[in-house]
Amino acid sequence: MASIRTLVVALVLLASQTRHLVLGINCFCDICEDKTCVSDGYCYTTTRLDKATGKIEHDFRCFNKNKLFPPENPLWCRQTPLLSTDEIAPFAVACCNEFDFCNQALRPQLPSMRPQEGPPEAQIGYDSTWLIIIGIIVLLVLIVLMLLIYCGMTQNRKWKNRRPGAFFKSNDSMDPQDQQPILGGINSLRDMIDMTTSGSGSGLPLLVQRSIARQIQLVEIIGKGRFGEVWRGRWRGENVAVKIFSSREERSWFREAEIYQTVMLRHDNILGFIAADNKDNGTWTQLWLVTDFHENGSLFDYLSTRTVDVPGMIRMSLSIATGLAHLHMEIVGTQGKPAIAHRDLKSKNILVKLNGTCAIGDLGLAVRYDVAEDKVDLASNSRVGTKRYMAPEVLDESICENHFDSFKRADVYALGLIFWEIARRCNVGGIYDEYQLPFYDMVPSDPTIEEMRKTVCDGRHRPSTPNRWQSIDALNTMSKVMKECWYHNAAARLTALRIKKTLANLGASEDIKPPQ
Ligand code: ADE
Repeated sequence: MASIRTLVVALVLLASQTRHLVLGINCFCDICEDKTCVSDGYCYTTTRLDKATGKIEHDFRCFNKNKLFPPENPLWCRQTPLLSTDEIAPFAVACCNEFDFCNQALRPQLPSMRPQEGPPEAQIGYDSTWLIIIGIIVLLVLIVLMLLIYCGMTQNRKWKNRRPGAFFKSNDSMDPQDQQPILGGINSLRDMIDMTTSGSGSGLPLLVQRSIARQIQLVEIIGKGRFGEVWRGRWRGENVAVKIFSSREERSWFREAEIYQTVMLRHDNILGFIAADNKDNGTWTQLWLVTDFHENGSLFDYLSTRTVDVPGMIRMSLSIATGLAHLHMEIVGTQGKPAIAHRDLKSKNILVKLNGTCAIGDLGLAVRYDVAEDKVDLASNSRVGTKRYMAPEVLDESICENHFDSFKRADVYALGLIFWEIARRCNVGGIYDEYQLPFYDMVPSDPTIEEMRKTVCDGRHRPSTPNRWQSIDALNTMSKVMKECWYHNAAARLTALRIKKTLANLGASEDIKPPQ
């Protein structure tokens, strides 16, 4: 009789310990009405130093299953405690799901708060009373487990897989190279992105993006633009590009992040988006947009210092046309993609990959076409983009903005100019032209709209094609394609898809291998 009573008590205890796996767990929540939230995943506590007040602040919240990434061992819960830098306030997270309100006593330690030498419990973040309670519970759970085994009952599979304590572990090293793999087999950005993009292709969960961004170390500045700066950064030993927008440019940051996270946008020839994050350092907000890093830099940088051979020219041009055709294409369906027009295509906004193909970047001015509503997703300002690359109808403001194809046609005009920049650098038998921007011989540097309009609209001038191109098949085809991108009548221009097919045929006839 006594042993049955013990077994019942044990089962009740076990039920209370595993209840959250089925029903959810109650978590302490500092912003909820009754200070409680229910989570099907974890409870968590964060610790951060408010730089403005100098006070340590804690947030107590729920972290639901649908936000867990990777689900078995969420990155958010493994966040390395961050040291204070100029950009980042110190920050730490700890998760738990062992019992109701388990996060109430959690106090994740900031590196600067951690005593040099001290009792181990101080480093874990629980006060000693709670440690004793946890110890007793763990002991009871162990006894119950042994009883269950004794009774020959099969164990719940989830219980078997549970690894208590794993979520309190923190990695003290601040060097990203020293970080442990996140999960066996999932330790690179590509692995993580592939894992989440096989479905919607719309990017990593937001908490993961923030977590990645906050572990990036900025290494060197690689560019400056109208929005702010571009840096090379390191994340766990991998290079990433970080575009830092000033607080004034919040709308541009938001827009570019929004476009990159368009469902099904990911493509080999579109710059790979990794994360967007806004960090408040107490004085101002730093806005980060993290993308793949390409060590060859932009197409402009590349062509300014290097030449390409015929296969290289075709591979580059075809990859840009393929990227643009993907951007322009509408994919119908629940996981569909809207048609997107870039509106600022130029050689400085295209990155050159190591295999000689390209990726289109800088999507901050892009517009999407909403088929259901039959309208463009932005109140559009007709003259945006870079003056030198503006199509005639953009320069003279005759573009028909109600018709989405107008924006695509203006992109194709700019694509023709980019092909001209590449073709000039095509080295055949040691002959090639020096690098030049389009219209270098017709307008001054940093031309005004009026100067461009006079040249392109009134004078109907286009870049000249050197005579040598006529006698080389590939350059002759490229030259014809360019001219069909430059028609004054926008409706007569080739589409990106048509250009892609023409260049693919040219590549096949020249026996060019597809990129590795
Ligand atoms: N310059 C601007 N963006 C870049 C990127 N993603 N990789 C390398 N250089 C860049």
